[in-house]
Amino acid sequence: MQIPRKLLVIWALLWEVILCVNFEVLPAIDSQTQNAIRSQRDLMLNVTIDQLPLVGVNLRKVILNNASTNDTESLLGMQSLMKNGVQNFMLELQLRNDSWGVRDTNLDLQAFLVAFESFINKTDDNLSANILTLHLNISTEELPSNSTSGDDQSVITVDPSKPMLNLTYVLDQFMGRFRIYTPDDLRTDRQLGSTFDTYGQSNSGWPTLNSFLYLKRKRVLITEVSNRLNYSEVPYIFNNTILHYDVGNKTLETPNTIGELLYTSTISWRYLEAEFTPAEIQQYISMGYSPVISNHYSIGNLTQISELLGSSIIWSWGAGEPIPAFTTATPKNSSSLVAYNCALLKYYSTNNSAAWIVGNCYDKKQGLCRYAEQAFDWEVTEADDTYFAFEQRSECHCSDRYQFALPRTPLELTSLVIDLERSGTQDKEIWIDLNSIAVGDCWVTGGPYATCPYQKVVPHRNFVDMITPVSVSCCVILLIVFYLNLLRVPIHSNRKKWRKVVNELSKTELDGVPL
Ligand SMILES: *[C@@H]1O[C@H](CO)[C@@H](O)[C@H](O)[C@H]1NC(C)=O
Ligand SMILES: *[C@@H]1O[C@H](CO)[C@@H](O)[C@H](O)[C@H]1NC(C)=O
Ligand SMILES: *[C@@H]1O[C@H](CO)[C@@H](O)[C@H](O)[C@H]1NC(C)=O
Ligand SMILES: *[C@@H]1O[C@H](CO)[C@@H](O)[C@H](O)[C@H]1NC(C)=O
Ligand SMILES: *[C@@H]1O[C@H](CO)[C@@H](O)[C@H](O)[C@H]1NC(C)=O
Ligand SMILES: *[C@@H]1O[C@H](CO)[C@@H](O)[C@H](O)[C@H]1NC(C)=O
Ligand SMILES: *[C@@H]1O[C@H](CO)[C@@H](O)[C@H](O)[C@H]1NC(C)=O
Ligand SMILES: *[C@@H]1O[C@H](CO)[C@@H](O)[C@H](O)[C@H]1NC(C)=O
Ligand SMILES: *[C@@H]1O[C@H](CO)[C@@H](O)[C@H](O)[C@H]1NC(C)=O
Ligand SMILES: *[C@@H]1O[C@H](CO)[C@@H](O)[C@H](O)[C@H]1NC(C)=O
Ligand SMILES: *[C@@H]1O[C@H](CO)[C@@H](O)[C@H](O)[C@H]1NC(C)=O
Ligand SMILES: *[C@@H]1O[C@H](CO)[C@@H](O)[C@H](O)[C@H]1NC(C)=O
Repeated sequence: MQIPRKLLVIWALLWEVILCVNFEVLPAIDSQTQNAIRSQRDLMLNVTIDQLPLVGVNLRKVILNNASTNDTESLLGMQSLMKNGVQNFMLELQLRNDSWGVRDTNLDLQAFLVAFESFINKTDDNLSANILTLHLNISTEELPSNSTSGDDQSVITVDPSKPMLNLTYVLDQFMGRFRIYTPDDLRTDRQLGSTFDTYGQSNSGWPTLNSFLYLKRKRVLITEVSNRLNYSEVPYIFNNTILHYDVGNKTLETPNTIGELLYTSTISWRYLEAEFTPAEIQQYISMGYSPVISNHYSIGNLTQISELLGSSIIWSWGAGEPIPAFTTATPKNSSSLVAYNCALLKYYSTNNSAAWIVGNCYDKKQGLCRYAEQAFDWEVTEADDTYFAFEQRSECHCSDRYQFALPRTPLELTSLVIDLERSGTQDKEIWIDLNSIAVGDCWVTGGPYATCPYQKVVPHRNFVDMITPVSVSCCVILLIVFYLNLLRVPIHSNRKKWRKVVNELSKTELDGVPL
């Protein structure tokens, strides 16, 4: 009796170790980066989803490209990319005899979607949720002879007796209708006037990120770039007319004036799929593109993609920012007030760039103002003042009809940088409407008195405490296995208790650290 139980525990342990080791194909991101990503999402909540900068990969080029590698490992690699902040995915599909297959692998669409959905399930709370876009490119090669008429542009018709060939059925089963934002949802939103275009018209355009994530509680938008599906049969998938999808070279002009920036922002869903260098990917983001990385990697060297992700996912904060408030201790013999909870935009005139850093709210600096609700019309105040003087509605420092503000997208940041360059500005630090005064490490906009939306979740704690990377929970499970082993609790005959522990653990993760 004893030996099998021990063996079972050892087996469970080994299995966990294997999972833990394999789970992080890329190094886990640190809490600062995670905080920067979250703060970017939060400050973009009022931006419509078609204008978001979403960093993506062509899965076939990056990881799903070798039928002789272990598919499980490839999918773990994809989840690792998702954890590192990759939000859009180009997936090449081909029709197989009984199902849709992922090109160059032995995977079918179902297996892919299970991995995709399991990431969504793990991040399905207000703190971690973010939008994901999935682009399908349906390959014309190697189609079974009787499922298409052969013409490259023809619409694919499938055998209706095979459910796994019915994309609607597969998405229903393996992703869930409730997570997908469909063309029907868009139609309804437009009728209700809850969408916006560049000019603020509410019966065209797209919903804001806030509405998408928190009101509709959606997570995924699916498009097909290849135009081979029969759209009367795939109600969950957008056709390629909604996209501006460039492959190889960009086709949009680099915007240099307010007019050109406005024109760029009238185009929805701007993607550029190409092989990038770190400098290039950064540049394309600042032009308003969502880059889709198609550099060649394999499971063995995927970690090298970090270089590209590091210069693309975070477009706002500078390197290593936002530094947590507690690391900047108050000097002992200083009588001045110190609170490192306010964000400064730091402008570098030499290379004409800008990044955000954390500053002491009591320092006197100029502030950034925006004209009414115009995206690209900026003003830097003449007066220097502490952060607290820049209340959103106050008119003491911003000119008439201007308000304390911050750039909410890379395009807005670009327009500001162009402005600063034109006016011959030297290196400078400017207050922007972003602070963590209410709760340390919870970055909010809306003036010094804005509240943290997660305050209920984390009452008196530093926000950073609750950022538990998923890899940590993996090791926690390991520890629990040890613990149960020490207590000699046979796992198999005590499933209820075991499940309770795991349930409590996952509840803790969702609700934050209990006091
Ligand atoms: C979004 O807009 C609403 C209304 O204009 C405003 O109250 C809110 O503070 C904005 N939120 C963010 C994150 O900018
Ligand atoms: C595919 O994977 C196998 C086994 O991992 C490896 O030997 C082979 O070189 C890989 N092929 C390519 C083209 O990367
Ligand atoms: C693939 O890898 C997983 C975990 O790394 C392992 O459990 C599984 O047996 C492997 N499958 C094959 C066919 O090698
Ligand atoms: C698919 O069907 C064709 C023709 O019926 C057959 O030759 C082929 O082996 C099948 N492929 C698979 C993977 O079953
Ligand atoms: C299509 O091919 C499959 C085998 O791949 C076969 O079972 C089926 O009968 C064929 N359908 C038609 C309409 O020929
Ligand atoms: C994700 O969660 C849904 C319900 O919330 C569940 O039906 C589904 O099985 C879960 N999928 C995975 C892969 O865990
Ligand atoms: C779709 O895949 C085909 C074949 O790999 C490729 O030629 C084409 O450029 C892809 N389309 C897009 C929009 O990526
Ligand atoms: C595909 O599946 C959906 C949902 O299960 C179903 O409503 C629809 O009729 C199916 N389409 C075809 C062509 O069988
Ligand atoms: C998540 O956000 C929604 C919408 O803002 C809100 O109704 C809900 O109570 C929030 N959930 C938690 C756990 O805070
Ligand atoms: C493509 O989608 C748009 C918007 O969803 C729709 O208006 C248009 O009719 C669709 N075109 C085709 C060919 O399905
Ligand atoms: C992109 O443009 C360059 C020069 O303008 C050209 O040499 C190259 O072939 C183009 N690449 C693609 C994929 O079109
Ligand atoms: C990664 O490995 C693949 C083959 O295994 C190779 O084609 C590719 O160039 C490598 N990528 C980098 C960035 O080294």
